[in-house]
Amino acid sequence: MEDKQRELEGEEKEEEHAKLEIWKYVFGFVEIAVVKCAIELGIADAIESHGSPMTLLELSSALRCDPSPLYRILRVLVHLKIFKEKPATQLGPKVYAQTPLSKRLLKSGENSMAAFILLESSPVMLAPWHGLSARIQGVSNPAFEAVHGEDVWSYAAANPNHSKLINEAMACDARVAVPAVLESCLEVFKGLETIVDVGGGDGTTLRLLVEACPWIRGVNFDLPHVVSVAQECDRIENVGGDMFDCVPKADAAIIMVISIYVILLLNTQGNLTIQI
Ligand SMILES: C[S@@+](CC[C@H](N)C(=O)[O-])C[C@H]1O[C@@H](n2cnc3c(N)ncnc32)[C@H](O)[C@@H]1O
Repeated sequence: MEDKQRELEGEEKEEEHAKLEIWKYVFGFVEIAVVKCAIELGIADAIESHGSPMTLLELSSALRCDPSPLYRILRVLVHLKIFKEKPATQLGPKVYAQTPLSKRLLKSGENSMAAFILLESSPVMLAPWHGLSARIQGVSNPAFEAVHGEDVWSYAAANPNHSKLINEAMACDARVAVPAVLESCLEVFKGLETIVDVGGGDGTTLRLLVEACPWIRGVNFDLPHVVSVAQECDRIENVGGDMFDCVPKADAAIIMVISIYVILLLNTQGNLTIQI
């Protein structure tokens, strides 16, 4: 009897929990929409250049927007613990301050992830998610192709603004991931004279790598439309091509796909060994 009672109570609790939990999914898109809005408005950038926490009126004047809707956005951002609200005191009104998370919304800087958020929340990248169930049921092409008529790389080649967004997003990931790899695995790069970064994007990964390993020369290998806009840099050659045709020769190849690094070292027999 007691067991039955406990089971019933458990089910009631689950029911109550579900009543609240479901709202997360009804309005699940709000978090990303508000964060994207914060980046586009430049809230973190405004506080950073002000040099100290800002009042609502200071922020609305710096961002040239109406304080009333801005206040609503700030309330959500504070609720999400992205910005901190410091209560009003006798010395002045309530102010909004940065947190480590809001600093990742800065438009530039070594920890910025703003470009990645702007990429993934762009209509181009969000649209394929609406076709997820069709893809799972096997009634559509890969989701990106089903919406845009071509794969993501061909789409990027034909749409330079989208390509720029991808390159900037990948570069912000590289700025976070590469120093961590270098810090913990620098010895992997000792003895290598040349490295090719396959799908190296705008070359950020190799720039960080040759800076930390001055004995290395790099080849930044990516599709022609990507390397054509990559920065020039000493000891790095930008080469355009298709990795499914061939990859430039080097002592080692890096393939990094969003924070996952594979370092392929060619041994003397020309076989590949996976190092990281
Ligand atoms: C997910 S991004 C990774 C970029 C970079 N390695 C990073 O993680 O920051 C994949 C990269 O591969 C490139 N890519 C895609 N298909 C390719 C191909 N067939 N040959 C060469 N590069 C390609 C894209 O242009 C893009 O820059």
